[in-house]
Amino acid sequence: MHDVMSDVEALLSALKGSAERPFDKALSLPPEAYRSDALLQLETAQLFKSGWVCPGRTADIPNAGDYVTFSIGEQPIFVIRDMDGKVRSYANVCRHRMMRLLDGSGSCKRVVCPYHSWTYDLDGRLIGLPMVDGFEGLDKSQHSLPELRTAIWEGWIYVTLDPDAADPSESLAPLQEIVSRYNMAAYVPIHTEDKVWDTNWKIVAENFMESYHLRYAHGDTLGRDYPVERTEFPEGCFDDFTYSIFTLGNANELGSAHPDNTRLEGDWRQTSVLPTIFPAHMIVLTPDYMRYLSLRPDGVGRTRIRYGVAVPPEVHASWGNATSETEKLCGLLEAVNAEDRHLVESVYEGAGGPLTVSGPLHFFEREIHDFIVYLSRRLCA
Ligand code: FES
Ligand SMILES: [Fe+2]
Repeated sequence: MHDVMSDVEALLSALKGSAERPFDKALSLPPEAYRSDALLQLETAQLFKSGWVCPGRTADIPNAGDYVTFSIGEQPIFVIRDMDGKVRSYANVCRHRMMRLLDGSGSCKRVVCPYHSWTYDLDGRLIGLPMVDGFEGLDKSQHSLPELRTAIWEGWIYVTLDPDAADPSESLAPLQEIVSRYNMAAYVPIHTEDKVWDTNWKIVAENFMESYHLRYAHGDTLGRDYPVERTEFPEGCFDDFTYSIFTLGNANELGSAHPDNTRLEGDWRQTSVLPTIFPAHMIVLTPDYMRYLSLRPDGVGRTRIRYGVAVPPEVHASWGNATSETEKLCGLLEAVNAEDRHLVESVYEGAGGPLTVSGPLHFFEREIHDFIVYLSRRLCA
């Protein structure tokens, strides 16, 4: 009989071994790491429920009552802007008989359960319910929605179930030194979408981190002239994020600052930063656009992706009401997504083969090694 415990222990010891290898001898994760249900359970508990996840940006919910829904492991949540303008997060589960309260995204004055119409204020308090006399001695104040810790960093919303997780403003401070010059909080959303890809979430994360594949797998879209040789990495390894930076050779290309951009100076006007905030939030931040993915595993072989595109205010202003520019940029990035989807779904299939083994990591796949070190630290305690 298959011994699940010893399987996962073997996997964790292989993971630890990978993390301890020096980077010039680094290997990819063992293939079973992408296919193991037991490992996914551990990841859900120790990465997703104990870390910060990103349901979107503050710019996605600009007005009181605007909300987005998300989940952390099995916990459905929603994030809403309250009447005082504060972004707050709650369990998206009715206190009557557990109905999901809100779906998708939208705006509301009160949160009304679709089942029996229990009604909550934007501060989570139960404020009304029909035929209240039918409940013996019900005290509404005992039925507020549980609130989750919510942090805002550079315009991103982060939510956690963990009361002890370090605040992003502390853990991401070294990254903030690099990215604050872009003022990405001011980037205007032009597209958001939820996608579902048939692959393991770590394959999507790793694909998004590394630039080694760009020139080849994205040769028809973004990658043909991608200056992979100009990729730089931070010195040292951080606990909660990694990133790379590259500078274009030509100031006129996509990825360069608009002439009205007064924030970025010198080489920064052609420089992009690609942060991954662990466990599963990846950003491509360029001087003239930004795109991001926030991942949620949905079983070992399925990944839910919150995907978005935004542009800085001066680019948005220069477009005026023209939708063609939005369509052009979003269309190009969607073609890139289609290329990536093919890669990551194929890798998932490859990881299932009995003859499949780990392979060596290239110098330009350094962030994958950082990710493996992170996984080992959080999972092999
Ligand atoms: S489950 Fe929400 S009102 Fe009944
Ligand atoms: Fe890619």
